[in-house]
Amino acid sequence: VKRELAKKDLNNKKVIITAGPTRESLDPVRFLTNHSSGKMGYALAKAASYRGAEVKLISGPSELETPLGVDLTRIETAEEMKEEVFNEFENADIIIMAAAVSDYRPQEVSSQKIKKSDGDLVLKLERTTDILAELGKIKKPSQLLIGFAAETENLLENAQKKLREKQADYIIANDISNKNIAFGSDKNQVNILSEKDSIQLPLAEKEELAHKIFDYILN
Ligand code: CTP
Ligand code: CA
Repeated sequence: VKRELAKKDLNNKKVIITAGPTRESLDPVRFLTNHSSGKMGYALAKAASYRGAEVKLISGPSELETPLGVDLTRIETAEEMKEEVFNEFENADIIIMAAAVSDYRPQEVSSQKIKKSDGDLVLKLERTTDILAELGKIKKPSQLLIGFAAETENLLENAQKKLREKQADYIIANDISNKNIAFGSDKNQVNILSEKDSIQLPLAEKEELAHKIFDYILN
């Protein structure tokens, strides 16, 4: 309700947000993915649009409704996500990598269904591109680059390492071992890390939290 009076502090800004999981095919019927629901990324897209931004949402498979005014592009693989992000990156003001991008994909995708046999099956996986790290290398000083960190242990140390190694302006750290905010939850509790400091935001609905995140990063 209070937000109806909020100033449109993202007017004339272009914001790219990635969301959801990716899907890496093994064969025509199987794929590798993860538990990401896309809720945090979609909430950020909705909040950015509400605050006046032109929002490009690049999403892996998700059941969620496209927020009003948001330009949605659906992708499946990490490679497709990378392509879309790089296409849009040049004139973006803020880039938020909320997607749970697969770190690996099958080295070979079988064109036929893989048949079972008596022995074990060994899958050979290769690394995907770390999109956030690549953006960190090429971003302009005027661009704000924000990543997430999903951790089950040593939350702040691991998030701090990602902040440094990927040259992001902010890392939003998620403790995914916390049972109250498990995957698919409407709530989340995060820490935001930057070169300057580290703050903990209280547990909140993802839509409220999305606004808190923008309140913080836009000062
Ligand atoms: N990320 C990315 N491209 C990838 C993998 C991750 O852009 N191929 C981004 C995510 O969108 C997130 C950040 O990097 O913003 C951190 O993702 P996370 O999985 O927490 O960390 P990783 O660097 O992949 O390390 P690990 O999974 O080993 O903890
Ligand atoms: Ca990862």
